[in-house]
Amino acid sequence: MPVRARSFIRKMRGGAQAHLLEGEDGAFYVVKFVNNPQHRRILINEWLACAFLRYLQIHVPETAVIELTSEFIENTPDLYFSVGSRREHIPPGLHFGSRLSVHPDRVAIFDFLPDKLLSKIENRVDFLGALVFDKWVANADSRQAVFFRARAKTWTPLKGEAPARLGFFAQMIDHGFAFSGPHWEFRDSPIQGLYFRTAVYNDVRSLDSFQPWVAMIENFPVEVIDSAWKEIPRGWMNDDERLLEDLLEKLLKRRSRVAELIQQVQRAKTTAFANWR
Ligand SMILES: Nc1ncnc2c1ncn2[C@@H]1O[C@H](COP(=O)(O)OP(=O)(O)O)[C@@H](O)[C@H]1O
Ligand SMILES: [Mg+2]
Repeated sequence: MPVRARSFIRKMRGGAQAHLLEGEDGAFYVVKFVNNPQHRRILINEWLACAFLRYLQIHVPETAVIELTSEFIENTPDLYFSVGSRREHIPPGLHFGSRLSVHPDRVAIFDFLPDKLLSKIENRVDFLGALVFDKWVANADSRQAVFFRARAKTWTPLKGEAPARLGFFAQMIDHGFAFSGPHWEFRDSPIQGLYFRTAVYNDVRSLDSFQPWVAMIENFPVEVIDSAWKEIPRGWMNDDERLLEDLLEKLLKRRSRVAELIQQVQRAKTTAFANWR
């Protein structure tokens, strides 16, 4: 069920020119639009990546299909892209929303944290899982995350023992360039997908440190891919159905390659894993 947008909050940084909107459900969403300056396909990439990461139990935002009505668009003059000096309008219909896990006026959400705080993130292991995932989907971007303070028990079921105290949490975001972005292919490069602060990989000792994600991806269920695929609004596809099927076939075949792709990171960029033995 799509969530209707009810108010415009602000424009966000980034190449997709996403907008922060409030939905009729009272939640806040960073919305990427079908005619965004990157490509329509990045909405599909976002949708699939979040569903797959969720299966891998890596923290990602909830996602939703966001509906913009003609009435909302008419009443929201701030809703447009800047292309050079030109303004490009956003059409009514269904778009992609990544839900904020905290209220933006009450809790600070950070794009970056200093290394000292990075080492204290409660779910820091998610960066290891995310790297295995990014290798699998050939994410052509660097890893991106947002951070905020929360009590784990109040907002999400954390793996294992959830701390009751306030701690910093990371959520993995921005998967527009999974599958090499608009190209929908698997171009592997050892340095892509890494987080720019390699302190998050300080616990890596060997390939074993990337278990259980390697094993989970090697056995990734076709059904998870299928059900995420079925949820994609057909309007995001244009004539891409066949291409997408091919892409997902190739993705299935690549499941067995993730361990090798991680080893390539170690060989090519030895500074990424400072404690690899
Ligand atoms: N679920 C989310 N929760 C909080 N902030 C988010 C969320 N999704 C995106 N953002 C914010 O919006 C910005 C733009 O989103 P991003 O996915 O990085 O778009 P782009 O593809 O344009 O870089 C991010 O830098 C981040 O600050
Ligand atoms: Mg980004």
